[in-house]
Amino acid sequence: MPPRFTPRGFLIVSSGLGLYAATVYSTYHLYRVHKLPAPAPSIRDPKHQQPHPGVFDALAPEYNAKIGWDERLMRLGARRRELIAHARGRVLEVSAGTGRNLDYYAENPAVAELTLSDASEPMLLAAYNAFVAMVKAKVPGVPTKTDFKIMDVQHLDSVPAQSYDTVVDTFGLCSCADPLAALKEMARCCAPGGKVLLLEHGTGSYDWLNSILDKTAADHAAKWACWWNRELRGLVEQAGLDVLEMKEYHLGTTLWIVATPRANDAPGAAKEGLLQKGLLQNGS
Ligand SMILES: C[S@@+](CC[C@H](N)C(=O)[O-])C[C@H]1O[C@@H](n2cnc3c(N)ncnc32)[C@H](O)[C@@H]1O
Repeated sequence: MPPRFTPRGFLIVSSGLGLYAATVYSTYHLYRVHKLPAPAPSIRDPKHQQPHPGVFDALAPEYNAKIGWDERLMRLGARRRELIAHARGRVLEVSAGTGRNLDYYAENPAVAELTLSDASEPMLLAAYNAFVAMVKAKVPGVPTKTDFKIMDVQHLDSVPAQSYDTVVDTFGLCSCADPLAALKEMARCCAPGGKVLLLEHGTGSYDWLNSILDKTAADHAAKWACWWNRELRGLVEQAGLDVLEMKEYHLGTTLWIVATPRANDAPGAAKEGLLQKGLLQNGS
């Protein structure tokens, strides 16, 4: 009797073939990357990483469609939801792109006011359109006090110090020219005791993986204006933020961080601290 293919048998065979093809392709790709010469160590330094202005303007109309599957496979929606659940009061999101966190703000009743900002007008326009669509669809919980501002995260000059309860940045530090300056600005705009919420990606926990990121970084950046080999650990503290909670995903390449402005960095707090320790005379 000839063998019969049941739907289950067909599924098993086609999945096996798919897995085989994916393994062969990835092995070949990794081998090719492995054979590439190692770039100079400065490849990880933002000062030596070429900016790619205009890439996000061009990507904006298709951005969500292009990254949607990657985000689903990496379960980034869950990470975003869990992060935005920490937002409170007046919230500023920098480098907000197409507004991929909007759904999660709507789920969080503690968000009173929301400002979404980005340097790219087309990206922010996509965020505005997403917001309008949510309002029209009467999605419950959408913050009614929401506004949109074109702003460079490294120079939030129009934002007074300590004026937001929560400052959010998701996947923005890989794209701006100076991630430390960006973090310092976020720290400055956040009220004492407020939260800076970060979901970012950069180098991971393994040398072999970081070497692959280094070797492919320039090509990836040319396409996506994203430097995926930045060393972000440590930058948060350098910017005057204390990390309250941190989680790592995807072999350490994705960082999920809840931070707060360091008390000593608040205006007057440093002097206050020195006074308390008896290292400074009152009136000096
Ligand atoms: C990878 S996208 C992330 C978008 C969004 N935060 C998200 O989670 O999907 C990076 C965003 O950073 C923005 N960006 C790059 N440099 C910036 C800067 N200096 N100031 C503000 N936004 C910037 C880009 O326009 C882009 O929208």
